[in-house]
Amino acid sequence: MDNLSIQFSCSTTTTTLATVILLLSTLVLLRKYWKRRHGSSPSRNTTTNPPISLPLGTSGWPFIGETMEFISCAYSDRPESFMDKRRRMYGEVFKSHIFGHSTIVSTDAEVSRVVLQSDSKNFIPSYPRSLTELMGKSSILLINGNLQRRVHGLIGSFFKSSHLKAQITLDMQKYVQESMTLWRDDQLIYIQDETKSIAFHVLVKALISLDPGREMQSLKQDFQQFIAGLMSMPINMPGTQLYRSLQARKRMVRFVQKVIQVRMNKSSESSRAGSPKDVIDVLLNDASEQLTVDLISDNMIDLMIPGEDSVPVLMTLAVKYLSDCPRALHQLMEENMNLKRQKAVLGEPLSWSDYMSLSFTQNVISETLRMGNIIIGVMRKAMRDVEIKGYLIPKGWCVFTYFRSVHLDDNLYEWPYQFCPWRWQEKEMGSNFTPFGGGQRLCPGLDLARLETTIFLHHFVTQFRWVAEEDCIVNFPTVRLKRRMPVRVKRRRERSLAQLSSNPT
Ligand code: HEM
Repeated sequence: MDNLSIQFSCSTTTTTLATVILLLSTLVLLRKYWKRRHGSSPSRNTTTNPPISLPLGTSGWPFIGETMEFISCAYSDRPESFMDKRRRMYGEVFKSHIFGHSTIVSTDAEVSRVVLQSDSKNFIPSYPRSLTELMGKSSILLINGNLQRRVHGLIGSFFKSSHLKAQITLDMQKYVQESMTLWRDDQLIYIQDETKSIAFHVLVKALISLDPGREMQSLKQDFQQFIAGLMSMPINMPGTQLYRSLQARKRMVRFVQKVIQVRMNKSSESSRAGSPKDVIDVLLNDASEQLTVDLISDNMIDLMIPGEDSVPVLMTLAVKYLSDCPRALHQLMEENMNLKRQKAVLGEPLSWSDYMSLSFTQNVISETLRMGNIIIGVMRKAMRDVEIKGYLIPKGWCVFTYFRSVHLDDNLYEWPYQFCPWRWQEKEMGSNFTPFGGGQRLCPGLDLARLETTIFLHHFVTQFRWVAEEDCIVNFPTVRLKRRMPVRVKRRRERSLAQLSSNPT
């Protein structure tokens, strides 16, 4: 029996060894072929013509390119190390092969800016397949040209309107208060979970005027199933995550279409006068026939993504950075306590412009956006050969504008890895700072994200003290806190409000 097993294990070892050797030699041959096809040597133009050339870089291994190295860096606490290494070797713009595409990576703010400013004749958005399968065909993230500009303009001006900001302020205060009233002294609160729930309710209300309740609960469950598939394997068959997510999306589309139908029936009974109450109203009011029911429902669902993801992550990261920087927390708390006290004396409620006037709080949010890099960058696909700053981006290639490297560049930001909200006191938010992208696709929800975060921070710091438990930031596939940011809270005593003028801490 023993002999048999030794023999078996010996022959297994030999077979394994042979397989490994065969695999390695195949890979080496393939790599040579790959290099010849995709070119890994410098391709600088040495003639007297202007040096327009493919950026330097390598395409890595056959098929997988440099994806494995990119992912392993992305999972670390220094995702930009992938870029840093190549920046040193090839410069700020280099070529690579990631996620199945020949890609030009830009860590150069000027090149990235030109890419973002370009229209769809030059670049269109490019997303992983699992994402495009899940987003509706007419999602704003996927459409181009006039239609994208139209939808962007409508959504953007509604989100900027003071009418909506006033409503968001009331909703946000209400949902924040409802959550915080339940918090008990010494209770462990998971900031990431709390903020997800609050921000989702606020955004769904702004999109389709749905209040928390049974329908919201089931929408939220479907939405969580849907969002789990955004970064899944692109295999759509029963049992896979993508399949489950697509089913959840179908249920959400049915629900949103019912809401649209009710709204359309109402509007035919009485013509819709006055200002729109939500994004559905805004899109339905538009005379353009291009804005079909399918387009509106697709976009309603995709617009919920920042409510569950980017905005709560911004709030959670702010709490994380503040917990690690007591001086900033103290100044933020003083600023917010002062406002609270002033408004209490005047007997007035806080308006959205009061919140936005908190200048140090705004600096804390900017610094959180800079360090946190909730969206690390954006991917575009070149529709024709494009030349920027002497670099060639060939037709069909992707370009990855990597914001994170720019936001953490020590030539642009002194001590870039230090959380320093004070840097924004004298610094302009120039074109090197792009947490919300730029150009034609500049995030239309940027004011909303800031406003919601300000309101959350205001109520959190003026009502509670807390001790944060150990946690760390995970950067891939999306930014989040590994342990969901647990903090042990203690309510500030109400009477301390009267003492604030003498001792705000
Ligand atoms: C911290 C929060 C947020 C961050 C960091 C963020 C970041 C971004 C970035 C970088 C883009 C550009 C994408 C590209 O160029 O391809 C973008 C686009 C977009 N964002 Fe946000 N966003 C946030 C919150 C929001 C909110 C609250 C909404 C409102 C629902 C929103 C709606 C959108 C939409 C609709 C687009 C697509 C615009 C277009 O393609 O025309 N975002 N966002």
